Amino acid sequence: MPEVAFVNGRFMPLADAVVSIEDRGFQFADGVYEVVASYGGRPFAMEPHLHRLEHSLAALRLGLDIRAYGLEAFVREGITRSGFAETLVYIQITRGTAPRHHEFPVAGTQPTVVMTVKELRRPAAQLYQTGVKVVSTPDLRWKRCDIKSTSLLANILAKQQAFEAGAFEALLVDGEGRVNEGSSTSAFCVRQGVIWTAPAGTHILPSITRGLLLDLARGLGLPVREEFTTLQEYCQADEVFLAGTTTEAMPVVRIDDQQVGGGSPGPVTARLRQAFLDYVAAGKW
Ligand code: PDD
Repeated sequence: MPEVAFVNGRFMPLADAVVSIEDRGFQFADGVYEVVASYGGRPFAMEPHLHRLEHSLAALRLGLDIRAYGLEAFVREGITRSGFAETLVYIQITRGTAPRHHEFPVAGTQPTVVMTVKELRRPAAQLYQTGVKVVSTPDLRWKRCDIKSTSLLANILAKQQAFEAGAFEALLVDGEGRVNEGSSTSAFCVRQGVIWTAPAGTHILPSITRGLLLDLARGLGLPVREEFTTLQEYCQADEVFLAGTTTEAMPVVRIDDQQVGGGSPGPVTARLRQAFLDYVAAGKW
């Protein structure tokens, strides 16, 4: 089965896909991205992903009309071409190729649109049974984390810190000790049956999986609070879990050197993960 690449309207083998070294994505991280899963040959939650991409593009004043461009059709074609039953589609749009100066390039410069379609690799099934360890670290990101920008330095430094500690993820903690989210996941805790997660705003990515899990929780009659929670409260919570396109709902059983919720995954996380899997399997999306 081939891994598929797409550059500016053309599909090609991954090894043949190139962009200029003067691309502003390469020079400045002047671009945005989306990561979409597909199940059974269909992109999952395509419309929310397209909507978020439009939000990111507008926030950067990057003038590509993805509807007129036909991006969704290209995504579907890429999934079909790959032939994988489950894929991960990576889409990146930059401000295009231009001589390097900080201000926007001249009008008419075409944005660069690239995409890869690869086989979806889920975290090892066993991790959902045992739960994972996370570390905490200061959130060093900029003040527009709602934009899915390719500028991810603070995220990758945090993730590397987690990796070096043998942890699955790093929780990003603001100056007031509150947990915003993970470096590439949303974060939740469960306290006395209530699910807490940071409110939407410029301090977090409006995660598609976060939104879906909150809807599923409400559907199950589980109370939800979109309010800030401190790291200390996370450590003392009954359950902690992470969510994201590839992560689904992953239980956390240790934060730094503190055990969470008795050291094993909790029932609310398990219920939500099952609800997520059922929702995907039902195919009504
Ligand atoms: N990361 N928070 C951050 C900072 C993220 O980067 C992501 C996704 C999420 C989860 O969002 P969603 O549910 O829409 O996938 C939350 C992607 C997968 C990545 O960067 O690869």
